[in-house]
Amino acid sequence: MSNVKQDRHVEEDWWPHPIPANVEFGEGFYCESAQIFRKMVSKKPGAVAIGKHVSCYAGCSFAIGENGCCTIGDFTLLNGALIMAEEKIEIGAYCLVSWGVGMADSDFHPLEPAQRLIDAQALAPYFKDRPPRPKLKTAPVKIGDNVWIGMNAVILKGVTIGDNSIVAAGAVVTKSIPANTIVAGNPAAVVKTF
Ligand SMILES: CC(C)(COP(=O)(O)OP(=O)(O)OC[C@H]1O[C@@H](n2cnc3c(N)ncnc32)[C@H](O)[C@@H]1OP(=O)(O)O)[C@@H](O)C(=O)NCCC(=O)NCCS
Repeated sequence: MSNVKQDRHVEEDWWPHPIPANVEFGEGFYCESAQIFRKMVSKKPGAVAIGKHVSCYAGCSFAIGENGCCTIGDFTLLNGALIMAEEKIEIGAYCLVSWGVGMADSDFHPLEPAQRLIDAQALAPYFKDRPPRPKLKTAPVKIGDNVWIGMNAVILKGVTIGDNSIVAAGAVVTKSIPANTIVAGNPAAVVKTF
């Protein structure tokens, strides 16, 4: 059972487009609106692979770049997550991801000032001498199973979060977190283990 119809449109959706063909999902998928996939650039088959009984509410957004991909395990709930994947973001099973959470496997712009100027020109759609974008650096993100991420938390490039861990509301996670740990703050630090 699912609220996604055979033609990949979501039942009673205000968004007129179907879920893109390269989004795979298992039985029991609840999708509040197919507009959550409006920022998908990747055309690769299976760029987003969603497990069974996953729920994605309308505040989510899958910004999946040309070479990006994302996997989501069974029974994971995404309330309002922005997933920005240029390479790979893996989210495990039984995760709870709250409102306003951001996850990114790249910084999306170069750190070096001269390169960043070039990037700004490259991103100006009507600039006639538009240069190519400098190559993006990426580092995959992996969220384990049964991880709870509180509202407005941010998970940055290269971070792995171990199973059962909790990220406090508003935390900015810049480094990997072991299993069974609670982190909070900016940059996030361990506040409890269990
Ligand atoms: C600021 C930023 C670009 C720096 O990247 P970087 O130079 O690779 O930084 P590092 O990961 O090496 O971290 C350097 C230090 O800064 C800290 N740090 C990095 N980003 C931080 C952040 N957003 N908040 C708080 N601390 C941060 C790290 O914990 C690390 O601390 P340490 O020296 O005590 O170990 C990056 O961390 C960031 O915030 N990226 C997000 C960019 C963004 O919003 N892009 C969206 C699309 S425009």
